[in-house]
Amino acid sequence: MTDPTYADLHEAHTRPAPFSVYTTDRLWTDDYISAQMLNFHLDPDLVAASRPATTISHSIDWMTQRFDLGPGKRIIDFGCGPGLYTTPFAQLGATVTGIDFSARSLAHARSTAAVAGLSIDYVEADYRQYRVMGPADLVTLIYCDFCALPPTDRHNLLCSFRDLLADGGHLLLDVASTSAYAARQETVLFSERLLDGFWAAGPYYGLMRTFLYDDDFIGLDRYTIWQPDQRWEVYNWMQYFTPDTLATELSSAGLRMVETLGDVCGAAYDPKAEEFAVVAAV
Ligand SMILES: C[S@@+](CC[C@H](N)C(=O)[O-])C[C@H]1O[C@@H](n2cnc3c(N)ncnc32)[C@H](O)[C@@H]1O
Repeated sequence: MTDPTYADLHEAHTRPAPFSVYTTDRLWTDDYISAQMLNFHLDPDLVAASRPATTISHSIDWMTQRFDLGPGKRIIDFGCGPGLYTTPFAQLGATVTGIDFSARSLAHARSTAAVAGLSIDYVEADYRQYRVMGPADLVTLIYCDFCALPPTDRHNLLCSFRDLLADGGHLLLDVASTSAYAARQETVLFSERLLDGFWAAGPYYGLMRTFLYDDDFIGLDRYTIWQPDQRWEVYNWMQYFTPDTLATELSSAGLRMVETLGDVCGAAYDPKAEEFAVVAAV
């Protein structure tokens, strides 16, 4: 391969139908990219794959109080990554399951648990298909991962959360807000080794085309990467919510919104902020 042809470039610039392609797994499971994502997770100051360590610590403190976490409680963390939440949950004495499709992140999570003498059930799976056994007192999906899912996957996942929750159990998730959508613009970036070599170890050219879908509050960063021997793509979709649109999705899955918050540290909801969080229950 692979000199880009006109048709190739035209295709890379074409606006796809919302959520028509799912490539999130490539971002987290590709050997080269997942190594960088793990470094991002583990940098305590970086706002990238996870929130900064101080924010996570505040979040754990708030969740511990809000959901009365400790021995006798079961927590399931969807998209647990390298265990930045599951490890402290287990240190509280809770029974913890973490689900993620990044083998690299789970290897880190498992070795952290082993060193700390913690027993945590880690499952390597795509949580859109995997069915975990309940009941759970707390289900978490943290860092706006809900927004990357197509509508059908969001609905199915919420239904499985509903089925998992124990009597009196809660779901905690955070999302990007329509205020964040309002700050976005459609852009085009093209460069050699786009994002400083993030996408591949060797030589490549990368195109990032940002599309916005004003009717639906959806953003897409569509990356096309040309390496000497292959061309491939990553679609980073983002659905932006208001408390009302999120409440509608929760309700259609049999869940009700119990509380709207500014974040997963318990801050007050701010309609101008770029993210918000909700506590939901059956
Ligand atoms: C943005 S990171 C957040 C990780 C963690 N919640 C945190 O805040 O530190 C998203 C995580 O979800 C995982 N993930 C995304 N989609 C997934 C899916 N469909 N099934 C399983 N894991 C998924 C990724 O591998 C990654 O570890």
